Parts: sequence; structure tokens; C-alpha cells
Amino acid sequence: MKAKVNLENKTILVTGSPGFIGANLVLRLIKELSEGLIISFDNMNDYYDPALKWHRLEQIRKAAEEKQTVKHIFVEGDLADRELLHSVFEQFQPAVVVNLAAQAGVRYSITNPDAYIQSNLIGFYNILEECRHSYDDGRCGVEHLVYASSSSVYGGNTKVPFSTDDRVDNPVSLYAATKKSNELLAHAYSKLYSIPSTGLRFFTVYGPAGRPDMAYFGFTNKLLAGETIKIFNYGNCRRDFTYVDDIVEGVLRVMQGAPEKQTGEDGLPLPPYAVYNIGGGQPENLMDFVEILSEELVRAGVLPEDFDFEAHRELVPMQPGDVPVTYADSEALQRDYGFTPSIDLCTGLRAFAEWYKDYYEV
Ligand SMILES: NC(=O)c1ccc[n+]([C@@H]2O[C@H](COP(=O)([O-])OP(=O)(O)OC[C@H]3O[C@@H](n4cnc5c(N)ncnc54)[C@H](O)[C@@H]3O)[C@@H](O)[C@H]2O)c1
Repeated sequence: MKAKVNLENKTILVTGSPGFIGANLVLRLIKELSEGLIISFDNMNDYYDPALKWHRLEQIRKAAEEKQTVKHIFVEGDLADRELLHSVFEQFQPAVVVNLAAQAGVRYSITNPDAYIQSNLIGFYNILEECRHSYDDGRCGVEHLVYASSSSVYGGNTKVPFSTDDRVDNPVSLYAATKKSNELLAHAYSKLYSIPSTGLRFFTVYGPAGRPDMAYFGFTNKLLAGETIKIFNYGNCRRDFTYVDDIVEGVLRVMQGAPEKQTGEDGLPLPPYAVYNIGGGQPENLMDFVEILSEELVRAGVLPEDFDFEAHRELVPMQPGDVPVTYADSEALQRDYGFTPSIDLCTGLRAFAEWYKDYYEV
């Protein structure tokens, strides 16, 4: 059962909002809400070109300026900075918190583990502590904490589709281990302090102004530069790609329905805690994906019609931390929130290719 969370006229904290998913979420919130205050929080780190983050933030600023009735404030800071985060919670007292800020990426966690511990563990712990203390002195506090987990928690799971009922105790990357830890920490805090929390396992999110470290974006950069792209596991990988608008729709619906506070048979409170997959449920073979991407890049005019793809691709073995398949079982999301992602790869990659052409003035 879900407790309805009305987002109208509320203060909503979105961390990581100049990031890819966050920016799309905040733009949608500005569009949908009649009134409210949205606080964006991000350290604008240079894991990938920060110009893209400032560009997304500018879009948010413009949208809020046009809308007028939905205010937007940006706080530049680090989740690991406990004092700063505390002052943000004290000053703005958010009713809903969406924690998207994190060090993302599987491969980077092999060479830069510190970033993951700082942002994903210490940062997330700080968010939980602030949620916990938001109820101090009889205050209403946080009505719903929604946070990003990842399909990476499924590791080398061979049973498909991946269900939130599957055991996920065997992470194959530090990134995955931090995301699974977030779910465990959230469970403990939900149980101890009755914080309604929902974790969302996103499956390979893509779209315009996406993350340059992700395959579809990196492939595009390389092909445009005349370089060769590496296709891992000799192309025998299947990914459940999810278009960013589908992710935003899912997050928006989830934000409005928090796990209900209930009492267990032992008379103690049950944790108002839930975890969902958000994924397309239609895994695509990597080779087919590359083919669709190539077609859309040519169609958008990013690459010439006679571009020789065969000559610009190399089939290579699997990378450490990678998994052969991701495949979301989204039944629970459909059951509880009436939603399953549906935007197909052609439509999504077309939007990406067109955006890429405009943004980089190809
Ligand atoms: N994009 C995907 O395919 C995908 C898949 C699964 C999970 N996720 C998760 O979804 C969330 C959003 O992902 P995204 O693709 O938008 O990534 P993103 O990197 O574009 O956005 C994350 C934002 O968080 C900020 N950030 C990182 N560490 C911070 C810190 N310590 N303090 C403050 N800000 C910090 C970054 O500057 C960035 O703007 C992340 O938690 C990510 O792990 C994404």
C-alpha cells in the first residue's frame, strides 16, 4: 500500500540535478507543478565535462524563470559535506528528497574507488541522517525519500528477467556494492526512524544531453573523430536500455506514492521501505544497438551516408566489472504505479542523435 504524497506547493530537494537524469526530472517537475520550490544540489565534479552540467542547469533556470510559480534554487556543494547538507535541510526543510547525486560508472570505480566511497556511501549516509533529523521537535519532516540504485546490483545474475525478489549479494564492481549498500542503509533507517524510502534500480538510461561516459555517447564521439569503437564481449551483451523520459515518468509516479507506515505482528513498526526496477524490459543485443545508433547518426547528419562502420569497430573480450546481460522485470512498478517504460530504441536514439548534432554543431 502507498501513502499519497502531494507534490504541489512543496519543497523538493533533488540532488545531482544538473546531472543527466536529475536535470530531466527537474524540468518535468517545473512543467507539471503549479507551485513549489525545487532545490538542486550538486558538486559539479569533472568526472565528465562539467560544461554539460552547466548547460543542463541553464535549461532548468530558464524553465523556472518562465514558469515563475515554481521556484528553483541551486546549491553547489558536496554530499559528503555534512555541515553544508545540514544547513540545506535546516533552511529549506524539504518534504520530498530525490537523491540522484552519486559517482556513477562501473569502469571508473576500478581506478577511482575513493570517489565512490565519498559520494555513494558517506554522501548517502549524510542524506539519511538529515532525513532522520528532519522529524526532530515534532516537525513533519521528509514525507518520501526516493534514491537511485542501479541494475548493477544484479551482478552476474543469470536468471532473467531480473526481479527485486532475486538475491543480489554478489556485486561484481565497487559501484554495484555501493548501490546495494544504499539499499541496505535505507532499509535500516526506514526501520529505525520510519523514513518512507523507495530505491529505484535504473537500467542503462540514455537520451539527449546524456552522460558522455556511456557507450552510445562515447561511440558517437569516436566514430565522428574517425576512431575505432570497441564492442565488448564480442558483441554478445544484452542491455535493457531505458529512455530518459521513461525514467522520469517512473520517478515522478514513485515520488507521489510512499511506502505506508504499518505495524508488524510483533507490535513494532515495519520499515516503510521499497525497491523497484525501472527498465524497458526488452533487452537489446549490443550489435543491434550499434546498428540502430549508426543509422540514426547518419539520418541526423552526424555521420556521412557512406560511413564505413565495419572498418571502425573492433570486437574485444569482456571488461572487468561488466555483466553479459541486464533485463528488468518491471511488473512491480506496473502493479503499484501503473507504469512500464515503453519508448523504443529507434525513437530514443533518434532524439539523442538530433540533440548531438545541434549541441556540438556537427
Ligand atoms: N544513467 C544510467 O544509466 C544510470 C543507471 C543506473 C543508475 N544510475 C544512477 O542514477 C543517478 C543519476 O545518474 P546520471 O546518469 O544522471 O549521472 P550523472 O553523473 O549525470 O549525475 C550525477 C550528478 O551527481 C553529482 N555528484 C556526484 N557526486 C556528488 C557529490 N558527492 N556531491 C554532490 N553532487 C555529486 C555529479 O556532479 C552529477 O551531476 C546516479 O545515482 C546513478 O548512479 C544511472
